[in-house]
Amino acid sequence: MANRYRTHNCGELNSRHIGQGISVAGWVNRRRDHGGLIFIDLRDRSGLLQVVFNPQVTEEAYRIATEMRPEYVVRITGEVARRPPGTENPRIPTGEIELIAREVEILNASRPMPFPIGDKSGIDESVRLKYRYLDLRRPQMQQNMMLRHSVIKFIRDFLDARGFIEIETPILLKSTPEGARDYLVPSRLYPGKFYALPQSPQQLKQLLMVSGFEKYYQIARCFRDEDQRADRQPEFTQLDLEMSFVDEDDVLDLIEELFTSLMVEIKPEIRIVKPFPRLSYHEVIERFGTDKPDLRFGLELADISDIVADSEFGVFRTTIAGGGTVKGFSVPGCADYSRKQQAELVEFVRTRGAKGLVTMAIEGEDSSADLSLDKVRSAVTRFFTLDQVRAMVKRLHAGPGDLLLFVADKSEVVNTVLSQLRLEMADRLGLADFNLMVFAFIQDYPLMEWNKEGDRWDSVHHPFTAPRDEDIPLLDTDPGRVRSRHYDFVCNGYELSSGSIRIHDSQIQEKIFKLLGYSGEEVRERFGHLLEALEFGAPPHGGIAPGIDRFVMLLAGEENIREVIAFPKTKSAIDLMTNAPDAVSEDQLRELHLMLRGVESQNFP
Ligand code: AMO
Ligand code: AMP
Repeated sequence: MANRYRTHNCGELNSRHIGQGISVAGWVNRRRDHGGLIFIDLRDRSGLLQVVFNPQVTEEAYRIATEMRPEYVVRITGEVARRPPGTENPRIPTGEIELIAREVEILNASRPMPFPIGDKSGIDESVRLKYRYLDLRRPQMQQNMMLRHSVIKFIRDFLDARGFIEIETPILLKSTPEGARDYLVPSRLYPGKFYALPQSPQQLKQLLMVSGFEKYYQIARCFRDEDQRADRQPEFTQLDLEMSFVDEDDVLDLIEELFTSLMVEIKPEIRIVKPFPRLSYHEVIERFGTDKPDLRFGLELADISDIVADSEFGVFRTTIAGGGTVKGFSVPGCADYSRKQQAELVEFVRTRGAKGLVTMAIEGEDSSADLSLDKVRSAVTRFFTLDQVRAMVKRLHAGPGDLLLFVADKSEVVNTVLSQLRLEMADRLGLADFNLMVFAFIQDYPLMEWNKEGDRWDSVHHPFTAPRDEDIPLLDTDPGRVRSRHYDFVCNGYELSSGSIRIHDSQIQEKIFKLLGYSGEEVRERFGHLLEALEFGAPPHGGIAPGIDRFVMLLAGEENIREVIAFPKTKSAIDLMTNAPDAVSEDQLRELHLMLRGVESQNFP
């Protein structure tokens, strides 16, 4: 049956429709009065269409057009015509044609907009978020939402074709630890008891493997009460996935095939590197200082501790003697950095936890083999021998024209600071190609790290991650040396996912819980269901959970996760549109058996 509002979408019309009578409906994007003629750019989801109101054609429609304002909702009937020569607009797909209006109806008026729909520059994000439903009218946001839809649809089709089934798991649940704080929901029926919103469906997907589903996935909402950042939201979406009878490579091969075919289908203009590199945790920490390296460019770090351990430079010598390290990297073509520019770099590392930064500019054109000390511009050149400087230059694969940057400290500090300085220098030099996405897998993580304050071990991933079989005996003797079956999936400096092969033996699972500092009672209370399930024929299994928001953010070329979420929260976890979180009535509190304590003001900071 014909639609009573429209026969066509604006953006679909083209020269083939010339001469046809059609109807369109949408929003007034712009209105221009041109001595006797009124032009309207009509916008619907498909694009823009120019509409002409000519009093010679119909006086009534022309009169109504004079009343139209931006964002009025209108329905227009008329005839598609070729634009007069010289008035075509090659920048829009419908630029060759226009609609000669014969009949028009204003379906709804609009108040003046809080910001123009066309352009987001200069609009404060808080205004965009307060009026998110208007912000989402902007073509860029519409594209982001459509991209997100395409990604999720592709994932569903891909996994369906490979025998995965999507199973929904509950939102009202018990605490599932992923390292953040839980969001709690008080129970009305059971005074003093709470549900926890899942930080991920981790335990449930493992239980589904015990149930025999073998290949599960879910586009799953996760909830974590943690500090927000540009790539974090309190609620976010994962492609949560789990498989039975698999090893690491089965999961990674599937993810590699999924992301490769997705990129080819959805963003063919972005290059990727095939096969996805699979690197060890220790290697990436050595080379990039972080386990989520941006592999689009070099600027690799190198350890020079052995070269400078006996140097005259006290800072390096004492740091190394105290168990620390000295690492650095070479920045091509930056030997001419001014004092001021170098001072900026020193400030950069200081604000990120380093005590200082040694800069060394290698001047001249000679090859490094002929390097002499008078070509090395640095505040500390005099503390090093020529041999030492030559060895440093060689270790960093540097040469004339390069600027060498070094930090000395505990190795965690050195790596954290240099990994950030590496990104900063790449940014300054424009080394990160926007049309390149380098995916990689990181493997061979340690299973646990010692938590000094808590006097216990912490999981590097989560407590359900399996140790390598051959390292199981070490759980009793040297837990810190146990290697895990955990892997991360990273892209362009972002962690896209973590995953692992899981523990399917209840005794090993129980042992891990103990090492993590849970008492026997806590284990029974929090994880009794899981330990019990593992005793009923749990198959070997493993999985992964790529963050959908983060991935779509990268794909859309956005720098903030909020740009790809329809209704996100602010950095301080507030929904500015509805004003959530909000106070609730005394009655509601009473019904939930809750009393507020120490709450001074219900207002946001
Ligand atoms: P993990 O905690 O590493 O693993 O999370 C997996 C991925 O989810 C995304 N992510 C987030 N995205 C936006 N905002 C957040 N606050 C946020 N937190 C995490 C990231 C991250 O890499 N159950 C395990 C997975 C598994 O073992 O299968 C898990 O949740 O992209
Ligand atoms: P100072 O001895 O503190 O005057 O520092 C001499 C030079 O060494 C300065 O250029 C400092 O920025 C640098 N420096 C100091 N501490 C460190 C460090 N831990 N790592 C690298 N450079 C440092």
